[in-house]
Amino acid sequence: MKPVLELFGVDMKVGDTVKIKVFIDPEAERFSINLGQEHSELALHFNPRFDSGRVIVCNSKEAGEWCTEQREEAFPFEQGEFVKICITFHEGVFEIKLTDDSVLEFPNRSCMDTMTYLSVQGDVRVKSLKFDY
Ligand code: GAL
Repeated sequence: MKPVLELFGVDMKVGDTVKIKVFIDPEAERFSINLGQEHSELALHFNPRFDSGRVIVCNSKEAGEWCTEQREEAFPFEQGEFVKICITFHEGVFEIKLTDDSVLEFPNRSCMDTMTYLSVQGDVRVKSLKFDY
């Protein structure tokens, strides 16, 4: 997926939330929002896909290797629309709140206590990004 935004030196700790608003390209195939410590160490890869059955895939990555995927039934996304995604880093779990107020959870498998890296990739443009600390 093409790189859209990459932030190093993030200081996201337990209890913190990041709110991201993106515009999904009208021809979008997929996009992702990633949190971790660098691109090869991801605690959360949140990856809505239009090109493989409209599904959200979540995963983590350790030492450059993908771990076990978690697939979600909810898919409140449409191409050509704005969406707001709020990710709260709780102890042991990420809570991901979507535009329709549905909430997904993904475990913090690697037990990282600080997210220092955030990236957005794929077929979106970033409208706003805000850390609520
Ligand atoms: C792969 C895909 C990656 C990532 C991963 C998640 O198939 O190429 O971009 O989404 O799945 O498990």
